[in-house]
Amino acid sequence: MIKEIAAQQLDTERFIAEKVEEIRGVVGDGMAINALSGGVDSSVVTMLGHRALGDRLKTVFVQNGLMRAGEAEEVTGFFRDLGVPVQVADARDEFFAALKGLTDPEAKREAITQTFYREVFGRMVRESGAKHLLQGTILTDVDETVAGIKRQHNVFEQLGIDPQEAFGYKILEPLIQLRKDGVRKLGETLGLPAGLFERIPFPGPALAARVLGEVTPERVEKIRLATQVVEAKLGGYGAFQYLAILHEDRVTGMRDGRRDFGLQIEVRCWDSLDARTATPTRVPFEVLEQMAQEIVDGVPGVVSVTYNIACKPPSTIEAV
Ligand code: XMP
Repeated sequence: MIKEIAAQQLDTERFIAEKVEEIRGVVGDGMAINALSGGVDSSVVTMLGHRALGDRLKTVFVQNGLMRAGEAEEVTGFFRDLGVPVQVADARDEFFAALKGLTDPEAKREAITQTFYREVFGRMVRESGAKHLLQGTILTDVDETVAGIKRQHNVFEQLGIDPQEAFGYKILEPLIQLRKDGVRKLGETLGLPAGLFERIPFPGPALAARVLGEVTPERVEKIRLATQVVEAKLGGYGAFQYLAILHEDRVTGMRDGRRDFGLQIEVRCWDSLDARTATPTRVPFEVLEQMAQEIVDGVPGVVSVTYNIACKPPSTIEAV
């Protein structure tokens, strides 16, 4: 049983001091690595890890081909300004090869997990001599995995998987007692710029969590373009998270007076405190209309844009 620390009870200075001690105790005088995706959790764990280990922590941004437009440059830039060097590892071909032909949501999640942990981190750990991987798993990830709702890409121990046996290294999870609101509070104390700790959550499987059906470079590019429109349009409403989803089913549309059996994009925008439950944000209708127009104009092949108005539960935040 993991003991939850609610955001209101979190004494960030004390928590940081304790975790820094813990990380130093476990890693000793060795090396550790961590992957930075640019999401809130991995950004916070990167800062915490650097506080504990300095340049004995090697931070890597894995370019898996599933990231948002400009993400690698933006995230490495943020951290460069904070004095934290980030190495970019290009693993696009490996991820797309692993995802080829898969359509089942859990099979896709599993392929991403294996590619991250076995292939990419496995190689990095061997090359760097690190014995520990530091990662930003939070309590919500564990809850949903244990409940069998979604296999979060970063949960192992609670599923009876020993990372040391499965992948050859140990995993440290200093944020595991927290939820998203607690992680944000911690990020602020650690001196992350608001632009990072206030970022909307972004899932580990990245845009693959938003592509129904096969995840190909072409289909990811469509959702990358739609995501740019959605993030530009929905940023001002205090929402917890907003995203675009590419559906597998096609619908009949028309373009230039001709039938176009085209693609459908679903937009979701959520009000939530900690992602456990969520309700759709009441975005003004004119904004939704403008957004739909920009998506059909900007994303080739799209003829339909819908806005989700169901709550979580029974919906979930991401679609895969
Ligand atoms: P769901 O879709 O389960 O999402 O309602 C809850 C929150 O978790 C994020 N999410 C993930 N984060 N690895 C992550 O690190 C994952 O595999 C994953 N799946 C979902 C999601 O974006 C939302 O904030």
